[in-house]
Amino acid sequence: MSIRLGVCYYPEHWPQSMWESDARRMKELGIKQVRIGEFAWSRIEPSPGELRWDWLDHAIEVLAAEGLEVVMCTPTATPPKWLVDRHEDVLAVDANGRRRAFGSRRHYDFSSDSYFEQSQRIVRLLGERYGKHPAVTAWQTDNEYGCHQTVVSYSPSAQRRFRSWLRARYGSIDALNSAWGTVFWSMEYRSFDEIDAPIGTVTEAHPSHRLDYRRFASDEVVRYNRMQVEILRAHAPGRVMVHNFMQMFLEFDHYPVAADLDVASWDSYPLGALEEMWFPPEEKACWLRTGHPDFASFNHDLYRGMSAQPFWVMEQQPGPVNWAHWNPHPLPGMVRLWSWEAFAHGAGCVSYFRWRQVPFGQEQMHAGLNRPDNRLDVGGEEAARVAREIEEVEQAAGALAQPRGKVALLFDYQAKWLFEIHHQGADFQYARFAFDYYSALRSLGLDVDIVPTSAPLDGYAMIVVPPLPVVPDDLAQRLQQSGAQVLFGPRTGSKTVSLQIPQELPPGPLQSVLPIRVWRVDSMRPNVTEPVQAGALSGQAMHWRDLVEFDGADVETVAKFGDGHPAILRHQRMHYLAAIFDAGLTAGYFEQVARAAGLAPQRLPEGLRLQQRGPLTFAFNYSEATLTLPGAADFIVGAAALPPQGVAIYRSTQQ
Ligand code: GAL
Repeated sequence: MSIRLGVCYYPEHWPQSMWESDARRMKELGIKQVRIGEFAWSRIEPSPGELRWDWLDHAIEVLAAEGLEVVMCTPTATPPKWLVDRHEDVLAVDANGRRRAFGSRRHYDFSSDSYFEQSQRIVRLLGERYGKHPAVTAWQTDNEYGCHQTVVSYSPSAQRRFRSWLRARYGSIDALNSAWGTVFWSMEYRSFDEIDAPIGTVTEAHPSHRLDYRRFASDEVVRYNRMQVEILRAHAPGRVMVHNFMQMFLEFDHYPVAADLDVASWDSYPLGALEEMWFPPEEKACWLRTGHPDFASFNHDLYRGMSAQPFWVMEQQPGPVNWAHWNPHPLPGMVRLWSWEAFAHGAGCVSYFRWRQVPFGQEQMHAGLNRPDNRLDVGGEEAARVAREIEEVEQAAGALAQPRGKVALLFDYQAKWLFEIHHQGADFQYARFAFDYYSALRSLGLDVDIVPTSAPLDGYAMIVVPPLPVVPDDLAQRLQQSGAQVLFGPRTGSKTVSLQIPQELPPGPLQSVLPIRVWRVDSMRPNVTEPVQAGALSGQAMHWRDLVEFDGADVETVAKFGDGHPAILRHQRMHYLAAIFDAGLTAGYFEQVARAAGLAPQRLPEGLRLQQRGPLTFAFNYSEATLTLPGAADFIVGAAALPPQGVAIYRSTQQ
């Protein structure tokens, strides 16, 4: 599979007199594909039915004349003013019952019938016009579903569709009452028509009701995307269908959306993410200008696991962004490092956001490959270097196979919603804990595949299951059959699919392979810890403890808490971590289990990360020190002394 660079371009933001030189300079820089059109509805259709194709036709021709491929987007993330004025139900409704306003983007409601129809119409028109254009080789549906908290709407149309969704799921109102347990607080319903959206209640609304509302809202995204893909496939045969997902964004289930596409792509902003996400202040300071060494790669490995063809980075941070609380500029070298890191993890394309910094609008402080004065920015120079290096690497190593880890991490979107709805401890955050397990594995030099719980598990030596409240019926058996060493985080198997405590107590259906019972749970304030001793390993439990009991001698207590309760339990190849542990203890225990699984974990120096892709090893230095790559030889890029922000690519000595 060959690898390539792309860029996001907004011809409608610039005078036509600039387009030709833009296209020529893109080509000279080594760009192969250009994404256009995702916010251009008001220019394509300035008033109802008045279609202006001339400028877009011309923009495509200008790009095509330089041999650039076009990724055409549907413009549905930004319905224009006339459209929302004509159809009020297009605007989503927030949890306070207020209609969202026009004036930014993503103001539409996935459940609005009129927006569904308007979207069908504009997507069809674009498909008819450009579907068979030889330069238009890929189509992006919409832009970043769910961005700015827009998955869930509480509009009358959402409520109506929710009722039908419930009817289809439960069949009868009695089945719903019993699945949810509505007898609690006299919440029983006599018909589906009595069920409202779970907002406005005096205290928390029923958790099963809330969870189903999240599931419903997620299914609405799947339905909406499928509509666009079906229309485009009919008009654009053989073209790549893609959507640009977001980084560590769990508000809808991405797996079924990706299943309708050819390529799952994502938008990578490592510095914005570090600033906005859960990382503690010390880590934010430490990785201020590089991003966390495992953050982009987590997303690469996640999206690789749902993409039929090699995933893409559709938007790569090229310099400072505008949208985080603080927006530092990256260290020189980081744009190159991030680009190569994406390729190391299997990306087919890295596309920079955006070609040129725009001097107006909300994102005027967001860097591009070019400055507003049209001189090449630092990110542009680094992109040009990556383009040259791609040629060298492909010449030396040929097309690259997809990475394949021996370690799988099972990932589940619904787990996030469930722990949010029923957290029992305010900082029990699924994404963070899944990330911490991933990060521990990566610090041991292990390559990881992030896969859904339904994925085939054969061939993995080690499988890590971050807290997974609802365990699918067949999972225990499939884990057993895989022959892998399996590690479960706390709270795994702690709920049924309708959010009740399993009758046999947690870990519920896992008890067939792990005969233990969680009889009590203990949520821990941020300043509370509990010591853990595991043979030579020791550390602290934080956030949460499961108190576990078991009958019989075939369960081993591998580690204990200070107060004597089991902290890690093992039954054959199944390991249960009864708490969230500090990073050292997590990595220490993962290292032991990795060795038991026949892997060769190695404690990497801080900031060094390695990734295998086919016959090549890629090394990345996120630290401030020059690091040495022991035993590495046969370099295509870089050398054994890896400077800060350095990238090395060499032939692997072991596979
Ligand atoms: C993404 C979005 C782009 C742009 C970018 C800025 O979330 O898809 O349109 O807003 O962020 O970093």
